[in-house]
Amino acid sequence: MLLPFTSASNNVEIVLKTGLGNKGKMKPVIKTLWWEKGKLYIIDQSLLPDREKIVELKNVRDVWSAIHNLSIRGAPAIGCVAAYGIALSAVKARVKRPSDFIRIIEKDIEYLATSRPTAYNLFFALERIARVLKISGNASVEQLRELIIKEANAIYGEDLECCYRIGVNGASLIKNGMNVLTHCNAGGLATSGLGTALSVFFVAKDQGKRFHVFADETRPILQGARLTAWELKKTGIPYTLICDSMAGYLMKQGKINLIITGADRIAKNGDTANKIGTYSLAVLANYHKIDFYIAAPFSTFDPKIKTGSEIPVEERDADEVRTVRGVRISPKDAPVYNPAFDVTPARLIRGFITERGIIYKHKKF
Ligand code: MRU
Repeated sequence: MLLPFTSASNNVEIVLKTGLGNKGKMKPVIKTLWWEKGKLYIIDQSLLPDREKIVELKNVRDVWSAIHNLSIRGAPAIGCVAAYGIALSAVKARVKRPSDFIRIIEKDIEYLATSRPTAYNLFFALERIARVLKISGNASVEQLRELIIKEANAIYGEDLECCYRIGVNGASLIKNGMNVLTHCNAGGLATSGLGTALSVFFVAKDQGKRFHVFADETRPILQGARLTAWELKKTGIPYTLICDSMAGYLMKQGKINLIITGADRIAKNGDTANKIGTYSLAVLANYHKIDFYIAAPFSTFDPKIKTGSEIPVEERDADEVRTVRGVRISPKDAPVYNPAFDVTPARLIRGFITERGIIYKHKKF
C-alpha cells in the first residue's frame, strides 16, 4: 500500500484486516494522532508544512484547545482525538466510586462537545463513549476506564479502516489522464488513516493510475496549500496548487474532469457541510457539468438532522481573514465575516463515496 507520510521518527505499523486489495496492509509513518501507554500525541497541524512537531496532549483541556485552535482538524481526526481525550480523563480520574467517575467523564464529554460545532464526527465519538458508560451496569472504576479506552481505540481503528475502504471505493472513479480538483484537506492529516478524498487519490495511484490533482489553497487557514499540497508532495502524486478563485476558470477551460471533497456533516437528505468554498465549487461544477463527489465515512452522517439548514456553521476569529500566516493584509479593524464552513445542497452532489460503497442520490441512506 502506498504510504501518505514518511518519517523516521514514528514508524508504527498498522495492519488493516479489511481483506480488500493490497493484502489489507498499510503503514502510515507520520500519524496524525495516536495513543501510546496512556498518553495522547498529535502532530501539530498549525505548524505544517514548515515544522513536523509532535505534541503530547496531557489533559482534556489540552485536547479542547488543540481542536479549537486547529492543531488537530478534519472531521474524523477531531472525533478520534476527542475519544482519546475522554480516555485521558478516564486515566487521570482518581476517584474510587463509579458514580464519581461517571460524573467526571460526563462533564468532560460535555466540555469537549463545545470545542467546535460543525464536524459531526466529534459528537458521534463522544456519544459512543457516553453510551459505553450507560450500558456498563455495575462496572468498577477500573473496568469503566478499560471500557472507555477500548471504545476510543475502536473509534480510531474503525476510522483507519473506513479511510482505506473509501479509497478503494472511490478509486473506481479515477481514470487515466483525469484532472481532479479537491478543496481543503481531506487527507491522512484529517483522519486516523489515509484520509477520505485523498485516500481515493492514494489508492488510485497505488493501482497505477495516472492523474493530476488540483488543490485549492483554501483561505483563510490554507489547509489546501499547507496540508494537502504537503501530503500530495510526500506521496509523489502530481499536483498543482491554485488559489480558490481560480477553480472556475480552470473548469471553463475544460481542465477539471472530477471534483472530490471531504465533509464535516451530512444531513439525512444529503445536504453537506464542508470547508467554506465547497458550495461555490459545487455550483461551478453544476454549471460546467462536472461530477462533484463527497468522500466521507458514515461517522460524518448525522441521522438526527433532516436538512442542511439545521447544521451549525462555525464562525471563527476575524483575524483569520485579516491575516495570512500571521501577516496582516487588511486594515487592523476591517469588519470581517468568517464562516468556517458552508452547506452544499444534495442536488449538486453526484454521489457520496463511503466505506460501504458509493451512494448515489436516488438511493436512501
Ligand atoms: O476547519 P477544518 O480544517 O477542520 O475543516 C476540514 C474540512 O472541511 C474537511 O474537508 C473535512 O473535515 C473532511 S476531512 C476528511
